[in-house]
Amino acid sequence: MKILVVHGPNLNLLGKRDKSIYGNDTLEDINNMLHIRAKELKVELDIFQSNCEGDIIDKLQQAIIGDVYGVIINPGAYTHYSIAIRDAIEVLDIPVIEVHLSNIFKREDFRKQSVTAPVCTGQITGFGVNSYLLALEALMMN
Ligand code: DQA
Repeated sequence: MKILVVHGPNLNLLGKRDKSIYGNDTLEDINNMLHIRAKELKVELDIFQSNCEGDIIDKLQQAIIGDVYGVIINPGAYTHYSIAIRDAIEVLDIPVIEVHLSNIFKREDFRKQSVTAPVCTGQITGFGVNSYLLALEALMMN
């Protein structure tokens, strides 16, 4: 069983970005934690990061034909305005969970709206690294 994890723009800079919002962990740390839990759950992870909208869409489209069981996606700032990523999620007929490290509803007004969450199975926001781990658990309960 394979789960696709998609990290959007600027998440490659975790560890350097505002630690009071995003924590101390780097993307590599997060990916390592996910791999450890995935191994325990006996599930395979395909982890992808891109700063480019089109590359994220191409990766999501591969899940249409691939043997992907579910998707965990942190679209980063694209969350708030990318109708193209929303459309790419909407076409998938597998569970998709949107995650955010920070609680987007506690932040600036422009972050309070997610254009992608309404086409996802659910959203987990504000638990730091645990947002990803909770999403993995949620997918495995599905
Ligand atoms: C984020 C929240 C977004 O508003 C922001 O642009 C990010 C990270 C989060 O994980 O909290 O890049 O998706």
